[in-house]
Amino acid sequence: MINPKRYTITAALPYTNGPVHIGHLAGVYVPADIYARYLRAKEKDVLYVCGSDEHGVPITLRAKKEGITPQQVVDKYHEIIKNSFQEFGISFDNYSRTSAKIHHKTASDFFKKLYEDGKFIEETNQQLYDADAKQFLADRFVVGTCPKCGNEESYGDQCENCGTSHNATDLINPKSAITGNVPSLKETKHWYLPLDQYESWLREWIVVGHEKDWKANVRGQVKSWLDDGLRPRAVTRDLDWGIPVPIKGADGKVLYVWFDAPIGYISATKEWAVQNNKKWEPYWKDKETKLVHFIGKDNIVFHCIIFPAMLKAEGSYILPDNVPANEFLNLENDKISTSRNWAVWLHEYLNDFPNQQDVLRYTLTANAPESKDNNFTWKDFQARNNNELAAILGNFVNRVAVLTNKYYDGIIPAPNKFTDIDLDVLAQIKKYPNRIGNSIEKYRFREALGELMNLARLGNKYLADEEPWKTIKVDANRTKTIMYVALQIVSALSVLSEPFLPFTSVKLKQILNSTEDNLKWDAILSKEELIAPNRKIIEKAPLLFSKIEDSEIQKQLDKLEATKKENEQANKIVEPQKEIINFEDFTKLDMRVGTILEAEKIPKTKKLLKLKVDVGIDIRTIVSGIAESFNVDEIIGQRVTVLTNLAPRKIRGVESNGMILMTETPKGELTFLEPEKENVKNGEQIS
Ligand code: 2FM
Ligand code: ZN
Repeated sequence: MINPKRYTITAALPYTNGPVHIGHLAGVYVPADIYARYLRAKEKDVLYVCGSDEHGVPITLRAKKEGITPQQVVDKYHEIIKNSFQEFGISFDNYSRTSAKIHHKTASDFFKKLYEDGKFIEETNQQLYDADAKQFLADRFVVGTCPKCGNEESYGDQCENCGTSHNATDLINPKSAITGNVPSLKETKHWYLPLDQYESWLREWIVVGHEKDWKANVRGQVKSWLDDGLRPRAVTRDLDWGIPVPIKGADGKVLYVWFDAPIGYISATKEWAVQNNKKWEPYWKDKETKLVHFIGKDNIVFHCIIFPAMLKAEGSYILPDNVPANEFLNLENDKISTSRNWAVWLHEYLNDFPNQQDVLRYTLTANAPESKDNNFTWKDFQARNNNELAAILGNFVNRVAVLTNKYYDGIIPAPNKFTDIDLDVLAQIKKYPNRIGNSIEKYRFREALGELMNLARLGNKYLADEEPWKTIKVDANRTKTIMYVALQIVSALSVLSEPFLPFTSVKLKQILNSTEDNLKWDAILSKEELIAPNRKIIEKAPLLFSKIEDSEIQKQLDKLEATKKENEQANKIVEPQKEIINFEDFTKLDMRVGTILEAEKIPKTKKLLKLKVDVGIDIRTIVSGIAESFNVDEIIGQRVTVLTNLAPRKIRGVESNGMILMTETPKGELTFLEPEKENVKNGEQIS
């Protein structure tokens, strides 16, 4: 769309079943934020909305796992997510939530309108059911083999491997995610959106109409689904967590989360409009509004097929102008996963790297998974900071600030005669707003960031070539001109960096003392002078980027290593049962309650302790391999269970007369088996 009147920018509503991680940021929130900030800098009418996606099975499953209610889950994560976005500088105009009243009403009204207009098919048929859990199995409550790609872990509504969206009954070998049971079938009524009726319209609109401007991965996926043929999709569910279906005869049913969630963009707009005394309709109903959905690739089907079909069925809404979906970001060469805790969590990053938001924003943009999956490594993060942000951008600005203070007490000098090189540099500066802007408008954020850094490189090269530290000794006038030109570059950087590095942009303006100037993006093109002489810049410029040390990176790598170990332990398969023994065999074991009286480490061993244990019959020596888990002092007095009639064995020269019985948790922690009550005496038998 050329010259839209306004922009509505949406970022996928994150599920509130866990905090936000770098995969979410790189795929959705950072690019959307750059886009929104850029358009605001261009003085466009922009609305950037998001919010928490609080319904759906992921929330219910998390609640079951944590032993709390779904409401408690969403309250907890909504706060964490909202605060971390804010601290990270994600500049939403409104961050709402789908449990908000306004959203329940908006989604209910939307459903009712389609229902009343006869846009749904009402159908009673057999659905998967878990009789033990007394639960219909839709969406993430059921896993099975994807009928399209053969992935054995596909969910009931979508396969995360190939992205296909399907009905739960399409799964091959379905299993309940709650009990592991093979589901039975049970009759139930639902309302279906007949996607097949929108097929040719969708093909015309996306595959043909957006051949040139939509990303190839997005159009490709849409085309493949359309080629496979669309079928009616149920937009209601038999669940107790969600928005109740607002019509008669639908007790115990809620809206499918993917029906209500995208309407959340509209509700967030309405909420913003109320809070800011604005009208919401133009942002969703005026044909001159450019609507852009930022999402990850797993959300393509919902934003390019289902939601547009809903909007079309409703009839009064505009459609997205673009859906620039990103691929996935991996972490240290492994898929990011909330359930395996394989992630860099935003709230933890903010804690571990205070005031370094821009370093992560930079790394995630420089590595954005725009056309293929990409990888985040902590070493790369360190290198991006030390070798690029600090060495190129930070170094240039620092040199200009230090020299201006040293030569002119911080007062920007007036230039003298410009050389051809100066004029060329001044002309070059004016090319960057459009260079960067064109890339942003094509959703090529990596390329845009590269251009910003090229401007800093231009500054470094200019200083290195013109050497003001040498001219100052021989030519005061020439030096003034050089510093003036260099300061023009810093001024352009202070504006052009804002979409990518908002915190740095603020610091740059503070350094130049230009916070009040309000220099706009497009003014860089037209203004002859970006920052005028005689202004006093800051005396002691703050360091823009400090070096990130190896030890800080090692800490993060250690954290991931610990996660890896925990996952390995958790995945340890429970040992199969040993062969059957008879009762006589069992009675041969003499197991008694005892108390550890003394403990000492056996020299030159890592694991072994020599224990004196009172087992009631006698006090005996037992060698036990527990030294890595317990300190000698802390186990004196510990009640234990001892196998007393195990044949004596010499271990490292010490005769061991029995065995302390222990159990090992999945994390590898050893636990003693002790009697629950204190009055159980030493020597009492286990039988
Ligand atoms: O994939 C997800 O995390 C979903 N919660 C995204 C929803 S986007 C929108 F439709 F709300
Ligand atoms: Zn699949």
